[in-house]
Amino acid sequence: MKKYIVIGNPIEHSLSPKLHNYWMNKNNIEASYDKKLVNEEDLEKIINEVRIKNLQGINVTVPFKKSVIPFLDELSQESKETQSVNTILLENKKLVGHNTDIAGFELALRHSNYDVTNKKTFILGAGGVVPSIIFALKKMKASKIILSNRTLEKSKELKNYFKDIEIVKWGNIPSDFDMIINATSVGLKKGDNLDLNYEKIDSNKFFYDLIYNPKETNFLKKAKQNGNKFENGKMMFLYQAHQAFSLWHKIMPDINNETIKLLD
Ligand code: ATR
Repeated sequence: MKKYIVIGNPIEHSLSPKLHNYWMNKNNIEASYDKKLVNEEDLEKIINEVRIKNLQGINVTVPFKKSVIPFLDELSQESKETQSVNTILLENKKLVGHNTDIAGFELALRHSNYDVTNKKTFILGAGGVVPSIIFALKKMKASKIILSNRTLEKSKELKNYFKDIEIVKWGNIPSDFDMIINATSVGLKKGDNLDLNYEKIDSNKFFYDLIYNPKETNFLKKAKQNGNKFENGKMMFLYQAHQAFSLWHKIMPDINNETIKLLD
């Protein structure tokens, strides 16, 4: 039987097994999909399982999206440019890393009918997924990308990669932007509060939180209270999984109300 896994640390919260097993079932694919808690030193061995065909595919989540790269033979263009891999498979005997977070974010924005073309965007955070968000925003022709991270050094590292982003110090709110994205891990724990001066943000912004569990972080609660448009990361999660599924199985599974409900 074909075997797929998602690796990360922590991994307990991951809904990938639920979603992939559901789609495999719906499409009569005989395979299993499990989650596996791993440490940095396990990466080489576990990735090699794909080369020797004990595993057919691996999804990679926090904090290994970059650290898996040395163990792969090839990277897709997107993975190369973001130095981020979330999907691994064997293609023509080569271990290839793909990045489906980019398409995931892009399709999720389209799903919410938000046209980011010519919009000024403000990203909070500089963790593993942020290069993919920047890449997608650039691809969709956002007019400006402003970024703020608690640790300034990490923002600067990103600016070395993406020269045209603008950095602001943590705690500062830019005077002019259209969309604000929470890409920090703040909100994963219920009650978590971002140290953000919400009074300085008026009500015509789009608040996007990459977190989907809990469904409504305090960041989104504030957005709602102040009359802003808002969205959580659920559709991004669904679409990145959708892209990974089609890479592995060459089938585009359905995304419908039942699929969306599955993750509630
Ligand atoms: P990684 O850096 O391993 O990819 P991540 O979970 O993707 O981890 O990223 C966590 C992000 O949330 C980082 O931008 C982190 O900021 P730092 O670079 O300063 O650590 C941010 N973050 C985590 N806790 C935070 C907090 N209490 N306040 C503000 N930002 C926080």
